[in-house]
Amino acid sequence: MNLIDRRALLLGAAAAFGGRGTPALAKTEASPVGSAHDGLNAQARARGLFYGSAIDQNMLANDPAYMDHVARECGMLVSEYSMKWGTLRPTPTTFDFSAGDKLLAFARKHGIPMRGHTLAWHMDNPPWLVSDLKPGNAEKILTKHAQTVVKHFKNRLVHWDVVNEVLWSKDGKPGGMRDSLWYRALGDRYIDIAFHTCAEADPTALRCINDYGLDYALPDDERKRHDMLNLLAALLKRGVPVQALGVQGHITAGNVPFDPRVMEQFINDVTSMGLKVLLTEVDVRDNDLPADLAPRDAGVAAAGAAYLDAVLKNPHVIGVLTWGLSDRRSWLNDELPRADHLPQRALPLDTELQRKPLWSAMAASFQKAPQRT
Ligand code: G3I
Repeated sequence: MNLIDRRALLLGAAAAFGGRGTPALAKTEASPVGSAHDGLNAQARARGLFYGSAIDQNMLANDPAYMDHVARECGMLVSEYSMKWGTLRPTPTTFDFSAGDKLLAFARKHGIPMRGHTLAWHMDNPPWLVSDLKPGNAEKILTKHAQTVVKHFKNRLVHWDVVNEVLWSKDGKPGGMRDSLWYRALGDRYIDIAFHTCAEADPTALRCINDYGLDYALPDDERKRHDMLNLLAALLKRGVPVQALGVQGHITAGNVPFDPRVMEQFINDVTSMGLKVLLTEVDVRDNDLPADLAPRDAGVAAAGAAYLDAVLKNPHVIGVLTWGLSDRRSWLNDELPRADHLPQRALPLDTELQRKPLWSAMAASFQKAPQRT
């Protein structure tokens, strides 16, 4: 590991672990991480936080201008899909790390820490897994996958989203567990298996459980917050080595009841268990806003500011990632398009890679956040 890697890892780890147990580098030491003095990560790092974004293999291969802005703005990266089963596991006996390794090489070239996403999810699984997974083979398959993948990236990723989106109360299972292929094969024990395997394969990576729909004063979100708190308490009680909650933060501008006190209370309830929290996939849907750019950008910025202001109040929140950096590419346009089919303006940079009001709102939220030690 060269100096840049080590410095980035330390910086990233310092932010990634909220400073716990990691030698923080002298503030004066120049760092390549989000090295532009005015990038979003520079704003976050000044308060002991990190800012980063999801990146994908297509963007890396075909959009150098986008990636230049990623290097300027970001101090943490995550692969949007190249480290998931669907990409990593073409067959039951093979692993394809080529795309993930390219993304990691970009991160290390720019001295930017990277997080892993994800070892067990109900989506983006190869057809052979969906058809072959059974109660009798699931533990072996999951253990082998997690062990091989985490060891492949050992000491080069600062976090893992060990499990993703395990709760879905509408499935009617105990504790609001999602009736996923993993749950059907192993019950909620798949969570234990994934976390213990990850801890053993790479003890240096912060182990996160990641989910969405935790944000609003709405019955579904309230139920998921309740189920998540109960799940985290149960996992800790039975010795599952979970260290952090990833709150995805796919929020909406417009007609949704955001109550900062509800969000603050939930984050406090999580961190009072001794867990860290990070925002892992923030973007701001603008489906409810008019087509005109000025009011749309203003509404997105206002929603982003209110959300980050509330969440970042808790000093155990270690950082923020957006699910993409520029409106050039957002999953929202594929999965949740606007009625007028205009590209959503959900991210900090516009399609021309120019900073938008959301960028400024995020910078302001970082600047007002309590200083992390
Ligand atoms: O780039 C290829 C393209 O070359 C190919 O022609 C096309 C058709 O196969 O696929 C394209 O890749 C797709 C990629 O999105 C880019 O569009 C993958 O197949 C597709 O699986 C991938 O979907 C991702 C999805 O997770 C499933 O992995 C989305 O990008 C990604 O934004 C989404 O991310 C999830 C988080 O992991 C969890 N939280 C919710 C979030 C949004 O759904």
